[in-house]
Amino acid sequence: MHDTIRHQLEQDGYTILEDFLRPAECDEMLEAGRELTKSIPSKEDRVIFSTINSAEKPHLKEDYFLNSNDNISYFFEDAAVKPDGELTVDPSISLNKVGHALHLQHPIFRCYTYSERVKTVCRELGFQEPAVVQSMYIYKNPGIGGEVTPHQDATYLYTEPVPPIGFWIALEDATVQNGCLWMVRGSHTSGVHRRLIRNPDKTSPETLIYDRPAPVYPQSCFTPIPVSRGTCVLIHGNVVHKSAPNKSEKSRHAYTFHVIEKKNNKFSEDNWLQEGEKAPFVNIYTTPQMI
Ligand code: FE2
Repeated sequence: MHDTIRHQLEQDGYTILEDFLRPAECDEMLEAGRELTKSIPSKEDRVIFSTINSAEKPHLKEDYFLNSNDNISYFFEDAAVKPDGELTVDPSISLNKVGHALHLQHPIFRCYTYSERVKTVCRELGFQEPAVVQSMYIYKNPGIGGEVTPHQDATYLYTEPVPPIGFWIALEDATVQNGCLWMVRGSHTSGVHRRLIRNPDKTSPETLIYDRPAPVYPQSCFTPIPVSRGTCVLIHGNVVHKSAPNKSEKSRHAYTFHVIEKKNNKFSEDNWLQEGEKAPFVNIYTTPQMI
């Protein structure tokens, strides 16, 4: 078991753990995700999240994003919000995601993040001092859930020499039709292709910038990873992956969080995400499940 998970992650850049959660556990998180849509921000404060279009209200968007490290912030689908802030769809399907501190601020997500199962996987992966640094509930709702363009998680969350590992848990079946993950198998061995960093030019209106242009990855390199609900996909920080828009009639909700190695490993000061007083990077092994 130990060798299989670790070996597969090192070989392919990802590992699929089926039946990581039971159906009733998925239901509990789905219900929590639905509950969050009942307290969305008012129309003046709605911020869109899109990996494609970032021209919309750049300052508001950047500040809201940067300040989301220690709380539960709401990011809307591009197509769900009109220029005046009114929604084009029902609030229940308007969100792209919420984050980035569900693992600390929400009792249900905290419970699943600091579970014995997660601790066991971390041990099997060889983590000595693992810490969760961010978490997200991803909606990918039917018809409106946008695509996530090809990227490496290390672009946004850079640690060295050991890259972060993403835990991506399907709360509903993820299929090619509703926007499952697609991976470039083995691409984690090719280094980090670009980084999103805090702009060293403090006079610039842009707080965050990419250090290089986006690489082009041919579609033929990608393999779809359809998984059934309850499956956890472990994602190496350097593996190239993406997901398509959800053009089906079925939602594809997922819960995801990222784990870093703290021992003898540097968390880049250039990362958008930084440790906060209310969001410390605490050791998973010694953190209780309950608040
Ligand atoms: Fe990702």
